[in-house]
Amino acid sequence: MTYSEQLRQKIETRKARTGVVGLGYVGLPLAVELAHAGFSVTGIDIDQAKVDSLNRGESYIQDIPTSVLKPLVKSGLIKATTDFAAVADLDTINICVPTPLRKTKDPDMSYIVSSCQSIAKHFHAGMLVILESTTYPGTTDELMLPMFERDDLKVGEHFFLCFSPERVDPGNEKFQTKNIPKVVGGITPECTEVGALFYRQSLDTVVPVGSTRVAEMVKLLENTFRMINIAMVNEIALMCDRMEINVWEVIDAAATKPFGYMPFYPGPGLGGHCIPIDPFYLSWKTKQAGIEARFIELAGYINGQMPLFVVDKVQNALNDAAKPVKGSHIHVMGVAYKRDIDDMRESPALDVMMLLMKRGAKLTYSDPHVPHLRLEGGDLTALPEDTAAAADCTVIITDHSTFDYRGLLERAPLIVDTRNALKGYSSAKIVRL
Ligand SMILES: NC(=O)c1ccc[n+]([C@@H]2O[C@H](COP(=O)([O-])OP(=O)(O)OC[C@H]3O[C@@H](n4cnc5c(N)ncnc54)[C@H](O)[C@@H]3O)[C@@H](O)[C@H]2O)c1
Repeated sequence: MTYSEQLRQKIETRKARTGVVGLGYVGLPLAVELAHAGFSVTGIDIDQAKVDSLNRGESYIQDIPTSVLKPLVKSGLIKATTDFAAVADLDTINICVPTPLRKTKDPDMSYIVSSCQSIAKHFHAGMLVILESTTYPGTTDELMLPMFERDDLKVGEHFFLCFSPERVDPGNEKFQTKNIPKVVGGITPECTEVGALFYRQSLDTVVPVGSTRVAEMVKLLENTFRMINIAMVNEIALMCDRMEINVWEVIDAAATKPFGYMPFYPGPGLGGHCIPIDPFYLSWKTKQAGIEARFIELAGYINGQMPLFVVDKVQNALNDAAKPVKGSHIHVMGVAYKRDIDDMRESPALDVMMLLMKRGAKLTYSDPHVPHLRLEGGDLTALPEDTAAAADCTVIITDHSTFDYRGLLERAPLIVDTRNALKGYSSAKIVRL
């Protein structure tokens, strides 16, 4: 039997020993789906605290309840380690490590490189390796392949290498790892087929594509589309503000068009690990090919202005109430980067709060998902929602669904609403974005 035939057989009989490197927002849900499909899963992470927590069956990811994880750990289907020697016993590996930006907005490939170096030490014939971290086109064939291929280990023959973008949307109750279609592209057609077969065992829909570069570009197209459309609607919001038009009403009415329009919404700025970051992986790569990604740069600029716009709105609202921002008490509702999640990465709340602090405001916040907040000017602890009653102005940055908006409207003297969370309410207290 060829290596491909052996591996296919192991995958189809669920005897393949699977591994997930990087057990965060992407890796842990994937490990759970693999285990649900009947595979034994070894998670590898350099974070000892995550490994220990997983081995106790305790989840640290909001989308995975402990009640789901614990039985899988108890039955031995999932275990975790910090030791890459475990790779020697694995047949498949999905790599889900971070891909942040450096301060210069260049890709930080250090996590991919270091995890691949660690895997390569224990790598063996017959393995399937799939990169899931979002990255620039060419990462899998230019950067990863040379780390694994040798004279006696040929890709597509002795081992199989793919890229498959992760599209998970934390906090989304309708679409999760299992039912989000999975795009996968291999270095060779054989790699694509083995990769697609692997995902078909645990996920509902698999979409094979012609190469790793196509698969890499799919993710960047999706996230660049989102980033640019958000920037466009943010700019429309700035225009509407100047012309005293309610942008939210405009968007809702436009969204009644049954074709050719898709609503995007303005807000206090981009947040999260994907939309503010991924398009810059693309612009960095295309620059090398002599193409300036002008839409991306412009969208980055416009989205980057939004926290300042919100702070100016707050300052103007306070001025209208004859209160200077300096010394005013401003209460922030919601600091996570989006509704109903606990992720603070790149959250625009951090920028808004820092800017308000620099203008001399005294800050408090409420967020049921974020009990403590680390800011340059000092750490804050979440306070009850009724703190808004004592504040000069309340700013809604993240519209968590558990907030009591009616109560807020009753008790707060002044509210700047950056998310249209108070849709349907009409009051002179409300200043909308
Ligand atoms: N979070 C999302 O919503 C989301 C959605 C789609 C795609 N992605 C992409 O998926 C990738 C992972 O994102 P995430 O949100 O899961 O990140 P995360 O920070 O939640 O998890 C990454 C994990 O990798 C571990 N790690 C770092 N270096 C390692 C190494 N050398 N070896 C082993 N483990 C290592 C970290 O300790 C961490 O537990 C990123 O490329 C991201 O852009 C994320």
